[in-house]
Amino acid sequence: MKLLIQREKKQYVPDLDREVTIVEGKEYFVTDTSKDFSTMHGTIKAKDLKAKDGTIVKSNQDKEFIVLTPCFSDIFRRLKRMPQSIIPKDIGAIIAETGIDGESVCVDAGAGSGAFACFIAHIVKKVVSYEINDKYLENIKANIETLGLKNITLKHQDVTQGIAEKNVDLVTLDLPEPWHAVPTAANAIKIGGYLVGYCPHVSQAQKFLDAVKKAGLQPIKTVEVIERPWVIDEHRTRPDNISIGHTAFLIFTRKYT
Ligand SMILES: C[S@@+](CC[C@H](N)C(=O)[O-])C[C@H]1O[C@@H](n2cnc3c(N)ncnc32)[C@H](O)[C@@H]1O
Repeated sequence: MKLLIQREKKQYVPDLDREVTIVEGKEYFVTDTSKDFSTMHGTIKAKDLKAKDGTIVKSNQDKEFIVLTPCFSDIFRRLKRMPQSIIPKDIGAIIAETGIDGESVCVDAGAGSGAFACFIAHIVKKVVSYEINDKYLENIKANIETLGLKNITLKHQDVTQGIAEKNVDLVTLDLPEPWHAVPTAANAIKIGGYLVGYCPHVSQAQKFLDAVKKAGLQPIKTVEVIERPWVIDEHRTRPDNISIGHTAFLIFTRKYT
């Protein structure tokens, strides 16, 4: 796999008294480097796609592209999504709050598109992900393979019916009625481990927290992560018109006894 980065080019136009964009900055993701790759700005030869990172190569239309090897996040962003996935701003908060690391064992449900399971598999020892809907399984397997992950076990099972894994560091529940899975999740978590609910709606968050208290887990905090992009260039320094709005409430709970 390779990334081809076409750099944005701007030019000052005296008549307009401002810079205009001549070439849009754009990234192309190349999955097969054995063949020539065509873009709207010409074709890049297969031999050029194999150039070392940072090399500037030219298309047959004389346009310049930088060759890069994609990192995990570059590939992650391009996974095929079926149901709505947990996105990086929320994934980051879950990792930071729970402190999962290379020794951690995590359980995730529902797998959905496998996005969250794949991201954490990149940093933890092992992930077991439960998914009830067979329509999503092939896509999840394809996403796991695309990222080359070997430490995810995908289970085609209803998580509310039981979690076989025990002593796990983290259980995450991103499903419509997560409260039904709280008792079994509480059983699976080790003392000191976390259960995190990912609930788009307030009503879900309330029911989830009721179940958490009944199961004897300790609510730690409920947060919403807002990511607000800014536009900063020669002419503007302000928040962007478009930002990512509400995704979900992240409900962090912990097993103390
Ligand atoms: C919003 S998606 C999860 C997305 C996933 N977190 C990701 O990042 O790609 C919710 C998933 O939960 C699954 N699901 C619903 N109830 C379930 C259950 N009881 N056991 C396992 N999976 C369940 C649904 O089929 C759906 O795929």
